[in-house]
Amino acid sequence: MASNNITSESKQLATWYFTFAAIIFGAQLVFGLVAAIQFVMPSFLYGVLDFSIARIVHINALVVWMVFAMFGSVYWLLPDETGIETVGIKIGKLIYWVFVAAIVVVVLVYLLIQVGPADETTIWFITEGREYIEAPRWADFGIVVVALTFVANLFFTGMKGKQTGIVTVLMADMIAFSGLYLAGMFFTDNISVDQYWWWWVIHLWVEATWEVFVGSIAAYALITIIGAKRQVVEMWLWIEVAMLFGSGILGLGHHYFWIGTPEYWWEIGALFSALEPLPLVAMFIHVLYDWGKETGLQMAEEQEGHKIAGHTITNKPAFTWVVLNAFGNFLGAGIWGFFHTLPQVNLYTHGTQFTAAHGHLSFFGAYATILVGMMYLAVQGANGIKVLKHTKASIWSVSLITSGVVGMTVALTIAGYVQVLVSRAQLGATWAAYFDGQSGMWFAQAMDWRMIMGVVTLLGFVFLVKDLLTTGKNPVHVR
Ligand code: HEM
Ligand code: HEM
Ligand SMILES: [Fe+2]
Repeated sequence: MASNNITSESKQLATWYFTFAAIIFGAQLVFGLVAAIQFVMPSFLYGVLDFSIARIVHINALVVWMVFAMFGSVYWLLPDETGIETVGIKIGKLIYWVFVAAIVVVVLVYLLIQVGPADETTIWFITEGREYIEAPRWADFGIVVVALTFVANLFFTGMKGKQTGIVTVLMADMIAFSGLYLAGMFFTDNISVDQYWWWWVIHLWVEATWEVFVGSIAAYALITIIGAKRQVVEMWLWIEVAMLFGSGILGLGHHYFWIGTPEYWWEIGALFSALEPLPLVAMFIHVLYDWGKETGLQMAEEQEGHKIAGHTITNKPAFTWVVLNAFGNFLGAGIWGFFHTLPQVNLYTHGTQFTAAHGHLSFFGAYATILVGMMYLAVQGANGIKVLKHTKASIWSVSLITSGVVGMTVALTIAGYVQVLVSRAQLGATWAAYFDGQSGMWFAQAMDWRMIMGVVTLLGFVFLVKDLLTTGKNPVHVR
């Protein structure tokens, strides 16, 4: 991502964040593929790279690249929204390198050391062993410093510059986002209590603060790409924020069903998590509404044979990813989430591949898509392009990545179905039933398909990188 046309230091820092995010995204896919191959061929890399480590790197890389792209998105939009240069950007830049160095060290330790003794040294220097936030204790403190600096940059800039609705929502959201991380930093000896607080990080991140963040950048993206009316977009944003916090916070209950918490969580979890898809539907309507208005305008333009100024899609690839985000969020989080959220259903689906099906489609649909969209906005800005069009590579990448992830989701859903039916419903959830559920033909074939679709996804990613690196120089765009 060349940053030759960028005068704002905040935007320059954003391109650094996006670049590292893309690299880690690649690592995520490679390690996911290793884990998928190990499902099919358990001897693959035996003694070199354990499945558990490949899995850790896969999901931690996921979280980390998304956080990098999140910070990048904020640094990118801040100067546009506030009208000023980001406050404290020099410290922001320094912290970027601290963050990158910490991630590199953490990953090298995962790969080279892998396991340690069952005592405090492992927790401090190798891994804490908590899914998604496995980073060792020393890194926890590093992340707190990084997060605080980022929030300070955002906050002081927001206080000094213009406070649009988007900036105000982001300021509140990023404080919540960073604050929740603290809940995952202390240990208790009781595993139920430990899990209870751990979900404060995981669930409240993905189903509250991340969703609000996505609402904000979707609003920014729609204003920037199709000139959507700020008043309309920000009105939706506030509605979504209210709904998301309303349902997402108590929706937390859907993780408290079977971990030893009191039974009243069944009712709370069932009711509020079932309401969670509502704001996602609202977001969906929000994007389609703006999109519909836009297509309507374009048709009118074509009929009249001239362009109405200010109403072209100024960045086709970014727009494609934003529309995909609306669909993906609705399907992955809303539909695939709702499937298994009632305790009556979750009793059967809990801990099957069904969860992984939902995990893939939701993280991809709700977050990966829009972050890639933001990367395209940065490529456009960095190269001073007025209208960024699709190229062959951008079309290949979006098609292959989307079909790959959807393909994996379908495969995992089938695998989950077999587990629910055989292990749980027919054979009564015994230890032997657990293995029977995984030895049938349907399960095995689903795992093959997941691996194949993983390759498709990775191929799409190669096109994506090629496009992000080269499209800025392509003469097809309007300058
Ligand atoms: C973009 C938003 C969302 C993301 C990224 C997401 C992601 C995930 C992930 C990764 C897990 C697996 C956690 C683990 O490893 O144990 C999970 C579990 C779950 N999600 Fe979501 N989710 C989202 C939204 C939703 C929504 C809106 C619902 C309900 C309507 C939902 C319902 C559930 C349930 C019930 C589980 C527990 C599955 C089980 O272990 O039995 N999710 N989610
Ligand atoms: C090359 C493509 C990919 C492959 C082959 C792949 C494969 C895998 C495998 C094998 C696991 C471990 C599942 C288990 O423990 O049973 C996993 C977990 C996971 N992957 Fe992927 N993955 C890929 C891409 C992605 C993408 C694009 C995302 C999201 C943007 C993602 C998000 C996740 C999540 C959230 C989990 C944890 C799910 C859970 O515990 O419920 N993966 N993946
Ligand atoms: Fe949740």
